Amino acid sequence: MKRIAILTSGGDAPGMNAVIRAVVRSAIYMGYEVYGVKNGYEGLIDGDIVQLIESSVADIIQRGGTILGTSRSKRFETDEGLDKAVNILEVFGIDKLIVAGGDGSLKGALALAGRGIDVIGIPLSIDNDLGYTDYTIGFFTAIDTVTHAISNIRDTTEAHGRANIVEVMGRNCGDIALYSGLSGGAESIIVPERKFDMEEISKKAILGKNRGKRHHIIILAEGAGDAYKIAEEFEKLTEIDTRVTILGYIQRGGNPNVVDRIMGAAMGNAAVEYIISNSGAYAVGICSGKIEIFNLEIALNIKKEFKDDLSDILKKISI
Ligand code: F6P
Repeated sequence: MKRIAILTSGGDAPGMNAVIRAVVRSAIYMGYEVYGVKNGYEGLIDGDIVQLIESSVADIIQRGGTILGTSRSKRFETDEGLDKAVNILEVFGIDKLIVAGGDGSLKGALALAGRGIDVIGIPLSIDNDLGYTDYTIGFFTAIDTVTHAISNIRDTTEAHGRANIVEVMGRNCGDIALYSGLSGGAESIIVPERKFDMEEISKKAILGKNRGKRHHIIILAEGAGDAYKIAEEFEKLTEIDTRVTILGYIQRGGNPNVVDRIMGAAMGNAAVEYIISNSGAYAVGICSGKIEIFNLEIALNIKKEFKDDLSDILKKISI
């Protein structure tokens, strides 16, 4: 019987379990024996692999995290680690591998493809930092979580007539700040992709305060600067009492929302369908609402574009 495996790698993202479920059940439906690699590339190197049947993935569609576990594997970045991983796949008779993860994880899949393994990547990351796909699975659930947090912060900020600098994740990508800034009605966002003008941000807050506004929410992407330094500068320029909230790992957990579950089902199924009838290295993505398959190397070289149109809307309507 033909064998296919799945692993989850890098930072977990809501929807990973929905993807595992879709992959396992689609592959079994197509006549494959399915294996789950534990703890990402670490488990691959160690041969920590278990067979998954239909019931192994029951009752997980709604759960955050990943039932397989994940890791950021330093060993996999070495030739020795890569050799061991390839050897393990050969020992298990697995020649098709599905990798669910972000940028680094898909680069790892490409390295395996260089050694003859057929791979397909599924984009899973709260960061939405991959250029080839409009969205990564997990991103919209993270935005829901951040938006909910902003609403809570806004209540207390309003009560005290303060400002709050809310730091969100995203590594070098400002999408979490951009989308949650829009959905949470933040006054300003600060992102790594664009220079920011503290005087302009402060002026906006002063004008708002003069109109009687009692809350000033600034969303800071973690890759764009130090929240405490920015708060200090903002407070000095505006004389508005300013607090800092670093949302941290709360953004990575929680039940996947409906978008991430549906993208998980669709991309998981598409990945299986494509890789069982093709050899090479691929990635599945979503572009203008359609599931598409890319050559993995080309996909990873597509630059992520910052959405200035959304940022302009935010500037226009957040006063
Ligand atoms: O890539 C997802 C992410 O949550 C980033 O937003 C963040 O910078 C990073 O992972 C944190 O990584 P770790 O879990 O290794 O601390």
